[in-house]
Amino acid sequence: MAKQENWIAPSILSADFAQLGKDVKDVIAAGADVVHFDVMDNHYVPNLTIGPLVCESLKNFMVKEDIKAPIDVHLMVKPVDRLIGDFASAGADIITFHPEASEHIDRSLQLIKAEGCKAGLVFNPATPLSYLEHVMDKIDMILIMSVNPGFGGQAFIDEALNKLRAARKMIDESGCDVRLEIDGGVKAENIAEVAAAGCDTFVSGSGIFGKANASDPNRYDSIIKQMREELAKA
Ligand code: DX5
Ligand code: ZN
Repeated sequence: MAKQENWIAPSILSADFAQLGKDVKDVIAAGADVVHFDVMDNHYVPNLTIGPLVCESLKNFMVKEDIKAPIDVHLMVKPVDRLIGDFASAGADIITFHPEASEHIDRSLQLIKAEGCKAGLVFNPATPLSYLEHVMDKIDMILIMSVNPGFGGQAFIDEALNKLRAARKMIDESGCDVRLEIDGGVKAENIAEVAAAGCDTFVSGSGIFGKANASDPNRYDSIIKQMREELAKA
């Protein structure tokens, strides 16, 4: 399957949670494609973030405002399965999880699909891609972590580029319709290199949010435009 259209996926981990709806509305209006929603449980990863309640509020706001971007829920939780239905009911469109956090990976994938959501596996920097071998036909997304999960604002781990190339080869050889996503340390400065390695879905948190005057509705226009221009070079 050839590389798909590029999607920019702002991670709301770096948004201002006191005005989350506004931040999401403005970043999507600036041309971003997907809302990346990081769920951390202070158990699988050493940080605590947001749950289904926030997802539901955000989804309701998006529906009301006619914002059609999908919500991409990245579960950094253990165990995984109990939360799948909660997030599906809360409006998640895509749900990804870490294979090490699930006792039964195939079952977790089936639970996500049964809820009508797109499903994906997430690979930590030291996690091998071999988990994909028997489930490629059951997934819609492969997420390669280019930092160790838990925090925004960390530096990109270069080995992720080799892993992206390997994952791209596996997707192409399988003929399956699977997106290849990167998460961690992605900025306008390195997004072209990441795209050249085969990525089509680009999570960026600190690279997009938090730089501009919070009240300016156009504050994300230039960063999203710059990322698109970089992607066009890849
Ligand atoms: C890290 C999260 C990321 C994080 C990325 O565990 O999964 O989505 O928000 O943040 P940046 O882009 O700042 O590295
Ligand atoms: Zn994430």
